[in-house]
Amino acid sequence: MSPPSLIGNSCPSGRPHRYRLRRRGLDLGVVEAIARETAWERSEPVLLRGIVRWAGAAGSSAAHARAGLERALAVFDGLRSGGELADLCPLPRGFRVAGVSVCTEDVLELAKLHVLSARAPRELYVKANWLSTHPRDGSLRLRFSYGAEVLDDWLDDPASARAALAFAEAVCPAGRLVTHGRGVVAALRRRLGARPRFLQPILYSNAPNGGALFHHDFVPGQAGVVFAQLAGSTGWLAVPKRVLAGHIQAHTRSWRDLDRLLAAMDGAEEEDEAKANRSARARASRLARLLNEDRVFTRRLADDGWFFALRPGDALLLPSQAEHDVAWHSVFTLGDGANLGLSLGVAACR
Ligand SMILES: [Fe+2]
Repeated sequence: MSPPSLIGNSCPSGRPHRYRLRRRGLDLGVVEAIARETAWERSEPVLLRGIVRWAGAAGSSAAHARAGLERALAVFDGLRSGGELADLCPLPRGFRVAGVSVCTEDVLELAKLHVLSARAPRELYVKANWLSTHPRDGSLRLRFSYGAEVLDDWLDDPASARAALAFAEAVCPAGRLVTHGRGVVAALRRRLGARPRFLQPILYSNAPNGGALFHHDFVPGQAGVVFAQLAGSTGWLAVPKRVLAGHIQAHTRSWRDLDRLLAAMDGAEEEDEAKANRSARARASRLARLLNEDRVFTRRLADDGWFFALRPGDALLLPSQAEHDVAWHSVFTLGDGANLGLSLGVAACR
């Protein structure tokens, strides 16, 4: 299968490609993707070029994979056109809809579809969200999980986790190229020292001018995240938290106390900002502006080799060994074609 929407990745001159980074109305300038050696053990992102194979994967032909991509892209297109999540999402055999809810306090939420299955002890759901409130950002995600969201109880029930993954693969059958493909599974097994278990599948359809602000995905009990690019292209600033802190110190010539900076960085994640007191909030928004809106700082990270351009078939491993030993990351949409990615939490099967 030829990868769809391949954008600007051939480089006949041998020089690194240059990418203009635009997100949510901001132009963060042009950066180069400079290859660097990285290691999971150092909490560094690991880029695996072309590891998602489009043909020959277990139970998946090239035609099946293409149909799987198109099915998922149609769900996102339907949502952008105002379609109902319940009408758009295919369910695996034996799954049934229990209801639909919308959290009116969350301006980014479109709808949550509640689903029951004999395979899952707990209620499953898929939640559709915009990624930002920016009027020219059509980026969407579908998160598949189970249980009570407020209790964060999604780590401790392998049967429900497997059913949530089956639900995600019904919406995006091409996801099996990741979860059952030899390449990704072997790459994770080497790093985890055990067979990987996949958790919390999230399908992303990034749109031009969209992406995600700097954040981390550390959750106790989860070893990291794998993001697989299935269609289109995304650009990632991905860097270990302690290295990112070093760049903040060098760039600002302040924050001499590393422990205070590492703690303050968590407040700079967008979801946490509103919870802090006034001075912590001011510090957090200064840091968030530096991380997400500063051209010179963005260029600095890219020049140090922390910018990665993903095209269809590539995967990025984002380790998270501990609160401060974790790959922070920020995402940009590259190009304007159809865009689809699958993110999966990973834990070791014990
Ligand atoms: Fe993330």
